[in-house]
Amino acid sequence: MTDKVNLLVIGEGGREFAIAKKLKESDHVDHVYCAPGNVGMPTVGVEPVDIAEDDFAGLIKFAKERNVKWTFVGPEDCLVDGIVDEFHAAGLKIFGPDARAAQLEGSKEYALNFMNNYGVPTAKHASYRDQTAILDHVDQFGYPVVIKENGLAGGKGVVIAQNHDEAVQTIKEMFASGQARIVLEECLVGPEYSMFVVISNGHYRILPMAQDHKRAYDNDRGPNTGGMGSYSPLPQLAASDRQRMIDEVVEPTVNGLVKGEYHYHGVLYIGLMLTAEGPKVIEYNVRLGDPETQVVLPQLETDLYQLVDAAIDDRPLPEIKESSKASFGVVLASKGYPQKPVHGQKLGSFPESENVAIDYANVTGTLTDLKGGGGRLLMVLAQADTLQEAHDRVYRYLEKLDQPECFYRHDIGAKAGL
Ligand code: AMP
Ligand code: GLY
Repeated sequence: MTDKVNLLVIGEGGREFAIAKKLKESDHVDHVYCAPGNVGMPTVGVEPVDIAEDDFAGLIKFAKERNVKWTFVGPEDCLVDGIVDEFHAAGLKIFGPDARAAQLEGSKEYALNFMNNYGVPTAKHASYRDQTAILDHVDQFGYPVVIKENGLAGGKGVVIAQNHDEAVQTIKEMFASGQARIVLEECLVGPEYSMFVVISNGHYRILPMAQDHKRAYDNDRGPNTGGMGSYSPLPQLAASDRQRMIDEVVEPTVNGLVKGEYHYHGVLYIGLMLTAEGPKVIEYNVRLGDPETQVVLPQLETDLYQLVDAAIDDRPLPEIKESSKASFGVVLASKGYPQKPVHGQKLGSFPESENVAIDYANVTGTLTDLKGGGGRLLMVLAQADTLQEAHDRVYRYLEKLDQPECFYRHDIGAKAGL
């Protein structure tokens, strides 16, 4: 008889693929279910379960039936909608912030108020409900100015307007599309980093650092996307700058969560920019990032199951052990993403290779006859002794593919000198 545990991951994308894969690698874990998961997950021993992310009652029933020890929530929508509160009410353990804390991602205005209250450095900003007021004030931050929809927008609700006319047009379009609140921000300049912090009620551990690439096309051109590629570690980030991020951003944030009585048990993703004045927060997300997770978790040598298990139960968190290797990944996206992604194109199968791993995301069909589900389809990943070697393996694999209805960026890692 085994005393291994069963776990459930909520979500269906590449991030959840990576989380479930990592949990499955733990010696303490038996089954890892993923609801709804995707058709690629069985390649890493993860069992997709046909229950929708927002069917909280169905998920609770499943977790009870399968004796799931705890559930790890991938996407932000269900956190904002209170999945954690409902699981707790049903007497189940779950990893993620409750609906109140999830507002840190669910509302830009809420997050900015939190940062103001607890002394977390961020961009100068102002929030508006009224189109006349915002148009009166739009010039106050100079140009370019950052214009954000207040609510969840999958990383796509941000426009950097270069001049007054562009700003006015953007604001009018956002109000016309039904946005009730719009935030204006000073445009920060500097390299952008993602920091993932596992938080357990005032205690925390920082996961390996990664860098995302948000723009759709090479040389950071084109529209903002969910993220087109990532790598870890970051050779260009000095240890002293990382320490500043911890002292000036992570500490006041975690202390603010305690002072505000948040009882936060989950991951906080801090998107920040290292400006000339020091690190400043661009955004909080209350979950792991996609596609950063796909490179961060392979770099984590600490058992993810043990880390999360301790965090859920408020036990001392294990130390973070980081691999001496390097991880690198490039997203293969549907042509037209993010504005008008092609759907349902025939992808066939992706050849297995010792040199790379494939974290499937938005694919349907079967593993030998895959179809694109729109958006970001999968990520090709490598872990090697050096970033350069990992980079070369991924691009060698991608270059051999014949996928005319897809695209990828060719310059992932350029900022690390690759
Ligand atoms: P968000 O949806 O808040 O993650 O923003 C998406 C992207 O817009 C960020 O990753 C940044 O690259 C950019 N961005 C957001 N806010 C600012 C800002 N205040 N200054 C400069 N760039 C920003
Ligand atoms: N990679 C950006 C995000 O997950 O929001």
